[in-house]
Amino acid sequence: MSNGAVAGAVQGRLEGKVVVITGGAAGIGEATVRLFTKHGAKVIIADIADEAGLKLAESVAPLGTFVHCDVSKEEDVSKAVDLAVEKHGNLDIMFNNAGTISSEIKSAVEYDMKRFERVMSVNVMGVMHGIKHAARVMIPQKKGCIINTGSIAGILGGAAPYSYTASKHAVLGLTKTGAAELGKFGIRVNSVSPSGLATYFSMQHYDEITDDRKAEVEGFFESRGNLKGATLKVEDMAEAALYLASEEAKYVSGHNLVLDGGSSVVNHSWGLYQ
Ligand SMILES: NC(=O)c1ccc[n+]([C@@H]2O[C@H](COP(=O)([O-])OP(=O)(O)OC[C@H]3O[C@@H](n4cnc5c(N)ncnc54)[C@H](O)[C@@H]3O)[C@@H](O)[C@H]2O)c1
Repeated sequence: MSNGAVAGAVQGRLEGKVVVITGGAAGIGEATVRLFTKHGAKVIIADIADEAGLKLAESVAPLGTFVHCDVSKEEDVSKAVDLAVEKHGNLDIMFNNAGTISSEIKSAVEYDMKRFERVMSVNVMGVMHGIKHAARVMIPQKKGCIINTGSIAGILGGAAPYSYTASKHAVLGLTKTGAAELGKFGIRVNSVSPSGLATYFSMQHYDEITDDRKAEVEGFFESRGNLKGATLKVEDMAEAALYLASEEAKYVSGHNLVLDGGSSVVNHSWGLYQ
């Protein structure tokens, strides 16, 4: 089935929209590139993974364009936004999705501050660069939509290391501040926050990612979740981003759409519903 010409009544929800997706070459970003182009969007895939990004752009041609972009570098993010405008005339949706984690669980007293800074430079500065440069284009347009990828670690302590937890709490702060400032220009700013998914991000400690290992990691996340009988997949994240990006969410701003099966609002240690 070709992109843009898909069957079913719900297709084409982003017809003609211009989108930048950071971290678009794999995982949640890749699933979002595929879903958004199916719905008729023109997508700039901004990522450090050149080979995967180029391959993905080719597979969704002519709607996808790859650009090398390290979100921790402001000039890279600025160029990705400029490319969207040069190629397609404007920018409707900015998905600040790229993120990194230092998965070592260390005590505060042993913390490697250089690693802490690296996580902050990608997860916090990267999102701020995206908001800044998207706003530069969207404010004169008097419309736009910015989506940031948070995490359950942006709501809870103890679900991830210090650096990652701090960075994702900061992403929610940037989302709320963005909504506060940019609402008057018709720009909506929201975030999507998953609990855990089997992607390279959560499986980088394996030398090889196999289907069995993916199932193992999904089992791990499910065992810590509240809702049973469902598994969070990258496609679910893409659907959440699609909702926030579409007209159906025209009055939704400053919202954190959490995909965690209710885990972050339930504390079973009280024992009432075990
Ligand atoms: N996988 C999970 O369990 C999980 C849970 C909560 C939140 N998240 C968040 O979801 C987002 C996407 O993660 P994913 O699970 O799809 O991971 P992934 O590893 O499958 O994909 C991440 C993509 O981001 C790119 N990337 C990494 N650093 C970058 C940088 N500096 N600049 C540009 N691109 C960069 C990678 O090359 C890759 O293509 C991240 O923000 C992550 O924090 C993931």
